[in-house]
Amino acid sequence: MSGSSSHAEEREDAVDPLDRIVCVCFSVSLRKLVKFCKFEQPVVATQLSECYGAGTGCGWCRPFLERVFEEQRAGRTPEFDMTEEEYRTLRAAYRADKKKAAATDIRPDPSGDEADGRDPETGDSA
Ligand code: FES
Repeated sequence: MSGSSSHAEEREDAVDPLDRIVCVCFSVSLRKLVKFCKFEQPVVATQLSECYGAGTGCGWCRPFLERVFEEQRAGRTPEFDMTEEEYRTLRAAYRADKKKAAATDIRPDPSGDEADGRDPETGDSA
């Protein structure tokens, strides 16, 4: 009897590559993107966002959407060089990094009220 990983590999092999989910946030498959490109003929990669919102969530899939766009323009069917599990694992790490970066991102007050050292409510100097 073979191990569970070979069963997983068999299942992975059994999945039609076009059924791979490219945009996990909006469950947009490669098949949907390929059809979108075929019928809508986007002129820039960002137009793939019109396909069920692909790429408008966390942003992880945007490089892959660009690749799908470029491959379609070249008349080829895009292929993935990683398993769906690897793809989802890397996306989870990307989202965690993004969340951590957002938590530590300290930006100046866009109103500029605090830039001159004055209290923004009273206008008094500090
Ligand atoms: S995976 Fe596509 S926007 Fe998040």
